[in-house]
Amino acid sequence: MKKGKTALVLNGSPRAKGNTAVVTQWFENALRRNGWAVTRFELHRLSYKGCAHCSTTCKKTSDRPGCALDDHLTPVLDEIAAARLIAIASPIYCWSVSGCTKAALDRFYCLFKNNGSLADGKKMVGLFTAGGDAFAGADLAVEMLKRIAEYGKAECAGTIAATGCDSPADLRRRKDIKAAVDALAGKL
Ligand SMILES: Cc1cc2nc3c(=O)[nH]c(=O)nc-3n(C[C@H](O)[C@H](O)[C@H](O)COP(=O)(O)O)c2cc1C
Repeated sequence: MKKGKTALVLNGSPRAKGNTAVVTQWFENALRRNGWAVTRFELHRLSYKGCAHCSTTCKKTSDRPGCALDDHLTPVLDEIAAARLIAIASPIYCWSVSGCTKAALDRFYCLFKNNGSLADGKKMVGLFTAGGDAFAGADLAVEMLKRIAEYGKAECAGTIAATGCDSPADLRRRKDIKAAVDALAGKL
């Protein structure tokens, strides 16, 4: 591992062997081949709430997330603040990311301080899988990730939208998507 090449993957799919897991595994393998240390969190297995907009502790700390909510996402937020690359992996649900992914993204609010962003200079990546076509929600998830990155002064380093997903077995045969994932990981 080269110094500082720490990547965090937040997987918001409930299916351990589903479509998102296939793309996530491809991405993690490619990252490791390129010298990254990768840690993955399975969001659906964690217990946490969305942002409460209390703005109590998080807006009074500048060097750490400081979220007032004390749940399974609290240590994940600390890991996010320490990592150089954050990958958000999610299936598309109802024209957006899955619920646990959205709740986690809302908690990113604690990274965005009044005097700067703890995400400043980090790379963000989106890995989305969808049953529908590119305009059945994957497009909106990609746009959302770009806007979050921009707001947090992070770099949206790339997105993968694996659309028209049927089964994980079918997805594994999609060499074009695997090649796109490898190319993305290789340029980070
Ligand atoms: C509750 C639910 C809502 C969904 N909504 C959409 C949608 O709006 N657009 C779309 O393209 N696919 C939609 N899908 C299909 C999933 O995005 C697709 O099957 C995805 O690859 C599942 O990923 P997974 O196997 O990692 O769970 C939906 C699936 C579920 C279960």
